[in-house]
Amino acid sequence: MKPREIRPGIHAVGAIDWDRRLFDSLIPLPDGTSYNSYLVKGSEKTVLIDTVDPTMEHELWHHLADLDCRHLDYVVANHAEQDHSGMLLRVLEKYPQAQAVCTPRCKGMLMDFLLIPEERIMTVEDKQTISLGDRTLEFIHAAWVHWPETMLTYVKEERILFPCDLFGSHLATTDLYVTNEGRVYEAAKRYYAEIMMPFRGNIEKHLERLKGYQIDIIGPSHGPMYNRPAYIMDAYRSWVLNKPKNEVVLPYISMHGSTKVMVEYLVGALADKGVTVKQFNLENADIGKLAMALVDAGTLVIGTPTVLVGPHPNVAYAAFLANAIRPKLQFVSIIGSFGWGSKAVEQLSAMIPNLKVEVLPPVYCKGLPKTDDLKALDSLAEAIAQKHRERGFA
Ligand code: FEO
Repeated sequence: MKPREIRPGIHAVGAIDWDRRLFDSLIPLPDGTSYNSYLVKGSEKTVLIDTVDPTMEHELWHHLADLDCRHLDYVVANHAEQDHSGMLLRVLEKYPQAQAVCTPRCKGMLMDFLLIPEERIMTVEDKQTISLGDRTLEFIHAAWVHWPETMLTYVKEERILFPCDLFGSHLATTDLYVTNEGRVYEAAKRYYAEIMMPFRGNIEKHLERLKGYQIDIIGPSHGPMYNRPAYIMDAYRSWVLNKPKNEVVLPYISMHGSTKVMVEYLVGALADKGVTVKQFNLENADIGKLAMALVDAGTLVIGTPTVLVGPHPNVAYAAFLANAIRPKLQFVSIIGSFGWGSKAVEQLSAMIPNLKVEVLPPVYCKGLPKTDDLKALDSLAEAIAQKHRERGFA
């Protein structure tokens, strides 16, 4: 594929990674991803904004050769993570006059993580500008969106924002801009859930801050660009600010069927009361879909059998994940079964300290649920429905 022109002298020079299926040895990538890099030429100076993952270095070199790019003045490192800055050292070696441009916090990270020589790094303050001649870059510090060193780069005259990971989507596509909004919405929501949601307080502040900028195009570092920025910014606002929905997320696993009976009973009871349930069997669930469901849910119910006194390890993993990504849900409960003794409820409860939630009475039974256990599940369903109504979850 050739470099794609965004504006005269501004090209997308990144790489599409159709085959990658796991990110950070953690995050599933069902639709691949891309590492977007942008070459911006001004009348006097030329800048590369972010690089690509080192596994795709050939793509970046091809694009720069196609554009006959023999000189770079700056390489902006919006973010030190390897999928964007992993090629920085190689690029600086190829272009010996170029300076890396980053936040003061990022400087140390580039030196530590990527062995970038200190003398090749130039730091910029929040709102500092660099002139390229007829074009101006403004740098917007955005700490903890999602790392502490992050910044966004704005090309003033063109009204283009390059926000690195913010607004990104793990989606391999040949489309330079979003063409299928539904598909990108799913991918961007998954990305938000997995990467950005723990930082939604900071994202809220930056969404507010970005209202002060006129933005015609957003060029994130993963997935297609947005030539209708309101589309993704409104989506982010809804994910960050909207009340939770009248939804329960129910990740569970069952070893001998007892927990599954309880899950199915509770799901039916909740559905009868008008509560939407998203059920995930953790034997084979897509953990990204689970994260995505947690963006909107009002309540999390965890279903687990007992393994050596504690929860099933897959359930412990899901609880750990939910605790780490800090969804805005407001209620949690635990259901499940044991054979002769269990501390699963206590152990799971201790694993979710980040969730600022009200814990609804758990329902834990010996073996298969009996009449009283089913009544307790009915009570739990009623409590959830009532709590959701009281909080105005729709
Ligand atoms: Fe796409 Fe935080 O790296």
